[in-house]
Amino acid sequence: MGKIEKLKRYWSRRNDAKEYFKWCLSYTKPYIPQLLLLMFFDLGATLLSVGMAIIGKEMIDRAAVGNLSDLWKIIAIYVVVILGAQLLGIISTLVSTVVYEKFGFGIRKKVYRRILDTCWIDVSKYHTGDLMTRLTSDVSAVSDGIANTIPTIIRLVVELLVTFFTLAYYDLRLALFALLVAPIAMFASVILGRKLKYLTVKVQETESKYRSFMQESLANILIEKSFCLEDYSEERLTQLRDERIYWVFKRNRTNMYASAAMGLSFQLGYIVAFAWGAICIANKTITYGTMTVFLQLVNRIQSPIVSLAQLVPRLISMLASAGRIIELQNLPKEKYEGKAIEPEKIGVKVETVSFGYTDELVFDQASIDFKPGEFTAIVGKSGIGKTTLVRLIMAFTNKMKGNIEFYNAKGETIPACPDARNFIAYVPQGNTLFSGSIKDNVLMGKKDATDEEVVTALKSAAAYDFVNEFPDGIDTVIGEKGVGISEGQAQRIAIARALVRKAPFLILDEATSSLDESTELSVLEGIRRWNPSPTCLLITHRRSVLQYCDREIKIENKKMVVAQ
Ligand SMILES: Nc1ncnc2c1ncn2[C@@H]1O[C@H](COP(=O)(O)OP(=O)(O)O)[C@@H](O)[C@H]1O
Ligand SMILES: [Mg+2]
Repeated sequence: MGKIEKLKRYWSRRNDAKEYFKWCLSYTKPYIPQLLLLMFFDLGATLLSVGMAIIGKEMIDRAAVGNLSDLWKIIAIYVVVILGAQLLGIISTLVSTVVYEKFGFGIRKKVYRRILDTCWIDVSKYHTGDLMTRLTSDVSAVSDGIANTIPTIIRLVVELLVTFFTLAYYDLRLALFALLVAPIAMFASVILGRKLKYLTVKVQETESKYRSFMQESLANILIEKSFCLEDYSEERLTQLRDERIYWVFKRNRTNMYASAAMGLSFQLGYIVAFAWGAICIANKTITYGTMTVFLQLVNRIQSPIVSLAQLVPRLISMLASAGRIIELQNLPKEKYEGKAIEPEKIGVKVETVSFGYTDELVFDQASIDFKPGEFTAIVGKSGIGKTTLVRLIMAFTNKMKGNIEFYNAKGETIPACPDARNFIAYVPQGNTLFSGSIKDNVLMGKKDATDEEVVTALKSAAAYDFVNEFPDGIDTVIGEKGVGISEGQAQRIAIARALVRKAPFLILDEATSSLDESTELSVLEGIRRWNPSPTCLLITHRRSVLQYCDREIKIENKKMVVAQ
């Protein structure tokens, strides 16, 4: 790599760190009063502890000359100061816990919302386990940075300055000597810092993989069992753990080198202070009290330096985590049109649409017009693009070329966009139920639907008969992804969830694939009779469905053609 390239990379990394830092600060603003309070208590505790060293000196000096009456007073002050420092320490811990929790939740909520607002196609590239890791441990690392690390760094810097000048007042040479740890600490944190950031990202990535694996495996426990994968999966988990341990170990080793170097110089400082103090006492240039000040303050100069150097990795891991969160936040947001059309008699025109998930196109200049009120069957081989067509109409992707536009009888139009979903009811392919009661699931279609509306929707989806047979009726609780009911029952509840919306545009993506023919026909009859009657796109493989449709559209050769 050329020098210029190296320099460029260095600058871009610096700019990244700056950007990440700015981002963290932008989230910190609402918490500034609490953070200031926190720092006030922290600094109070620090000043008291420096005061303690000075009071200690006075105590010993009084003792050395046998001044007992003053000694008692000073001991009393000493005790008060110790208690005060402890109390401030406790209060600051409490405040910091509150900030940590509030801040963490604040960020988590925003990032969660941001993921919801991001275009589906971009989010779908992330494993949910990875998203979870970012939402949990990465957010925790950032809040730890804001609520603990940064206030602590500020406190340590103040502590360092105050102690340095206090010691310098008694003995400048010793104070300067104590600072000798600083270059070693700086060296360790700057040189190792970059490596640490890289290692921290690796650790978080392996954490994501590890979590993603477990989550997916637990979600598909039936597959694990069916294919006798228990041993294999455990082995795979061990592999992932080993991978994680490898990076954790590497990171901790780097940390350890830094700590060891600093620890050694720290010891050295202590020995020198001790020896120097002893010599001074022998020469009678200082009192015993001053000697205790030496011992305490040399330590108090060095320990903030060492702690600062140790906090740098935490700051770095905060920045690395911030980077992983920012990456999510930088995904393009869905674009709202900010307008609405009267949701009645909706049709949709697809014009010269080209789209592919990769360079391979699924649609190439495809056009079709789905007229208001029409029931259209969409057929085509598996993998040909039926679901993709729905995703385009639902505006789940932002990479489409061409035009998709909804229109109503009044001639008002609105392009395919998130706003249009207000008048669309969609039954996706596969099992899309949530854990909770059947009623909760149906209410997702219309939050304020009455029980009567829920029941009517269930009836039209041919679901009420079996729901009614459950002892708890519509309040029957089902598990994650509809555990506890059959696939076909889940499909019918999903259809009821769409129907209850009373949307003028209904999309069913192989929504009746698990039903027997007669149940399927009664569902379709229910939908046809549904009032108000929607425009409907029905993706299907079954010929029997066609009798309920006005038209049949076939997807082939990356186009849509009218069959018959
Ligand atoms: N999220 C995705 N990323 C990349 N390729 C995809 C994605 N979803 C579907 N595809 C591909 O697009 C093509 C059309 O898929 P799809 O519309 O789901 O087919 P179907 O007609 O069976 O519903 C398939 O070749 C499939 O492999
Ligand atoms: Mg499909």
